Amino acid sequence: MKLLEERIKNEGRILGTDVLKVDRFLNHQIDPMLMQAIGDEFADLFANQGITKILTVESSGIAPAVMTGLALQVPVVFARKNKSLTLPDDVYTAEVYSFTKQTTNQIMIDRKFINADDKVLIIDDFLANGQAVLGLLEIADAAKIDVVGVGIVIEKTFQKGHQLLAERGIHLESLAKIKAFEDGEVVFG
Ligand code: G4P
Ligand code: NA
Ligand code: NA
Repeated sequence: MKLLEERIKNEGRILGTDVLKVDRFLNHQIDPMLMQAIGDEFADLFANQGITKILTVESSGIAPAVMTGLALQVPVVFARKNKSLTLPDDVYTAEVYSFTKQTTNQIMIDRKFINADDKVLIIDDFLANGQAVLGLLEIADAAKIDVVGVGIVIEKTFQKGHQLLAERGIHLESLAKIKAFEDGEVVFG
């Protein structure tokens, strides 16, 4: 997606060796016009597949997920990162390990928001090591629902996530693919 690549080039900042900071339009300040274009793009890429629901994880997945849900006219459910020790009843859970932060989060979705006949599209802001998406896939398996595909705003193709999804035969669409950071520049492709 050309528009998104331009925004990454102009407004993104590279932190260390492998992190892209995009807090001007995605991870802190949000550009709703760009998010709408992103939602429309995902809706086109996953058109006519009978999607009944969008799944994502709080917090940064919510903006692109909501705009995709708007474009496809379906509800959006975000998995919560459970911070309390006592789980509410009737939830699906998965453990999500973050290599970046070296922490484990438990994510959860109330069972009443997923039905056996749902066909879901998973949306997230970044694909790095793929652990958040794997957590959602685990929940989808437990709920016995179909996953039509995964839509990612920014994929870092040099990290493990892509391969983990390919191994499972998941239909993956990423709107910007970053293959490297070189000399302080983002290399797409
Ligand atoms: P993974 O799900 O692909 O395995 O991600 P990983 O553990 O590597 O990353 C943990 C968090 O960092 C995730 O957000 C993920 O979206 C984010 N992240 C990964 N790589 C980048 C990057 O290059 N730039 C930015 N800005 N974020 C990155 P999270 O902890 O779920 O936080 P939230 O922002 O959704 O609340
Ligand atoms: Na995220
Ligand atoms: Na994030």
